[in-house]
Amino acid sequence: MSNLLGKVAFVTGAGSGIGRGIAERLAREGADICIPDIDTEGAEMTANLVTQRGRRACVIKTNVASVVQIQNAAQRCVEELGRLDIVVANAGIARGGPVLELSLKDWQDQLDVNLTGVFLTVQASAQQMVKLGNGGRIVCIASLAAENTGVGIWAYSATKAGVRMMVRGWAQELGPLGITVNAIGPGVIETPLAQVLAGEEGGTIRSSLEDRTPVGRVGNPADIAGLVNFMAGPEGAFMSGSYVIMDGGLRDSRAGWEPDESAVEERERIMAKSEVRRQRQQTLLDET
Ligand SMILES: NC(=O)c1ccc[n+]([C@@H]2O[C@H](COP(=O)([O-])OP(=O)(O)OC[C@H]3O[C@@H](n4cnc5c(N)ncnc54)[C@H](O)[C@@H]3O)[C@@H](O)[C@H]2O)c1
Repeated sequence: MSNLLGKVAFVTGAGSGIGRGIAERLAREGADICIPDIDTEGAEMTANLVTQRGRRACVIKTNVASVVQIQNAAQRCVEELGRLDIVVANAGIARGGPVLELSLKDWQDQLDVNLTGVFLTVQASAQQMVKLGNGGRIVCIASLAAENTGVGIWAYSATKAGVRMMVRGWAQELGPLGITVNAIGPGVIETPLAQVLAGEEGGTIRSSLEDRTPVGRVGNPADIAGLVNFMAGPEGAFMSGSYVIMDGGLRDSRAGWEPDESAVEERERIMAKSEVRRQRQQTLLDET
């Protein structure tokens, strides 16, 4: 496949999950990949997958919420890989909690990464695109949570709803410069971030989710990567300002599942595992 031969893609947060799946797919289509991420260990693993496909990769330790760091990353992408044609503003975190309890730090960190980080990523990379004069494609990863929300998830939803609206304005501003801008709203995708919702293969949480999802399975990063490839490739040229949900039909399905007795222990075990990862990620975030 060579949909994107000779192109360079800047994929934030490609050190894990959906971003890694996107990096792999765009590399398979012929693009070289720049990987700005706070987690250089994860980013190096993704870079290996890219080089195994015969493409060049460039890892840059970057906190997308820092204007200095993301400006530097976009500039280095052009210096090291020679171009910047595709941007995927994918880096994100999830910090949930009830309104009576959510800490200001969790609220602020989530706004900084999910909203300000997307703005700064698009600004820095679009400035490079305009300078290079080749136009470009921008894809922002929002969420199904941009329109569905509920207990403990409203703060995350607010950031994703913001992304959804920013994209529409950016499409107006950047279209005349040859740059398209779109957003994707993934449903539950099997990644470390969504482990508590997706459960584990063979578990009660997973089978309940599969049961409530019309297509009968949980999503995977390759599903989202296929849509990014469309938006970034020749066939996506007429799409701009769009927000496309990819959730296996979950949006209109039965909501509000609460685990029964048998799943409580399973959920607590998965939550404990997620908490270990969350703490490691928080340390990386606070250090950068
Ligand atoms: N997994 C899902 O079900 C799901 C659903 C809807 C939307 N999303 C969105 O998809 C995107 C990717 O999520 P994922 O599930 O792959 O998560 P993930 O936790 O597996 O990966 C996120 C990546 O972003 C990086 N990152 C976090 N903060 C960063 C920062 N400040 N600067 C740079 N890099 C940073 C992490 O190090 C990690 O490599 C996020 O924006 C998330 O909100 C995920």
